[in-house]
Amino acid sequence: MPELYLAPLAGITDQVFRRLCFEQGCGRATTEMVSAQGYLTAPADRNAYRFLLARYPEEGPLAVQLFGSEPEYFAKAAAKLEATGAFQSIDVNMGCPAQKVVGGQAGSALMKNPPLAFEIVRQMKRAVSLPVTVKMRIGWDQTHINAVDFAKGLEDAGADLLTVHGRTRMQQYSGQADWDTIARIKEAVSIPVIANGDIVDGPSALRALKTTGCDGLAIGRAALGNPWIFAEIKAALTGQPYTPPPFSQVISTAMRQAREMAAWKGQRSALLEMRKHFAWYTAGRRNSAQVRTKVNLATSFEEVEALLNSLA
Ligand SMILES: Cc1cc2nc3c(=O)[nH]c(=O)nc-3n(C[C@H](O)[C@H](O)[C@H](O)COP(=O)(O)O)c2cc1C
Repeated sequence: MPELYLAPLAGITDQVFRRLCFEQGCGRATTEMVSAQGYLTAPADRNAYRFLLARYPEEGPLAVQLFGSEPEYFAKAAAKLEATGAFQSIDVNMGCPAQKVVGGQAGSALMKNPPLAFEIVRQMKRAVSLPVTVKMRIGWDQTHINAVDFAKGLEDAGADLLTVHGRTRMQQYSGQADWDTIARIKEAVSIPVIANGDIVDGPSALRALKTTGCDGLAIGRAALGNPWIFAEIKAALTGQPYTPPPFSQVISTAMRQAREMAAWKGQRSALLEMRKHFAWYTAGRRNSAQVRTKVNLATSFEEVEALLNSLA
């Protein structure tokens, strides 16, 4: 059975959300991206890194994702993270399209500088014994689709697995993910390849697997407000019927996520951070836009819960 991954989503795939996904059949997950240099130089008790790297012990296999552009920082950060014993693999972000990241030659900018990208992997492999994996795109833009050669170079440098988002950097998140190019990468390398991009339900998961021949699927945006996507895809893979949860369960899951986040970060932060999640959990329901405005002004979970229930 192909492995189902929760794709890294900055600001979203924290331990609380990941645990919900694992409970629904997610097989592996990745932390939000963490700056290799920032992690090395931040004071040990700096909240940002404490939160980014936190994991519940009962979560499933977890990769920690680093971004940056200096091989030495990657190697040192990887060794320090390995020493924590908290992670099962270390992933390198070679896909982030954000200007502030590519401006520092990091994220998807590394696809424009293959020698540097390969050196990052080589130095990390020398520094750690955990698997080193890479998350990449298919190229910088439509005229620079270098994914196949890039993937082969990463494999030669020692990468243990590749996750490929089937878009260019310039596409960001628009247009359609190009699964055919992912198929060509899968053909060209012998390490596992995980397909990513536009896998949103059972049928698209089956199509992505058939088209790419990949070893697993990574799901990002379709998991927002919908950790049940993993149960849905599992059902499709095993030919079982799938019934989405009733709205009462959607609300109780959203509230559980909120309370777990409050227990971890405090109620004030949880109320703020959960706003987007509440919107995702209720997207598409009648009156959800009006209720969302009120949820964003709520000062207690009781108030939020009553508002969500009003959508039932
Ligand atoms: C809000 C958001 C945050 C993301 N953060 C990261 C990240 O930290 N690291 C990374 O490698 N990819 C990140 N991605 C890209 C996703 O992992 C994934 O490759 C992309 O969304 C395509 O998959 P999907 O169609 O299943 O969403 C992010 C995407 C979104 C929408």
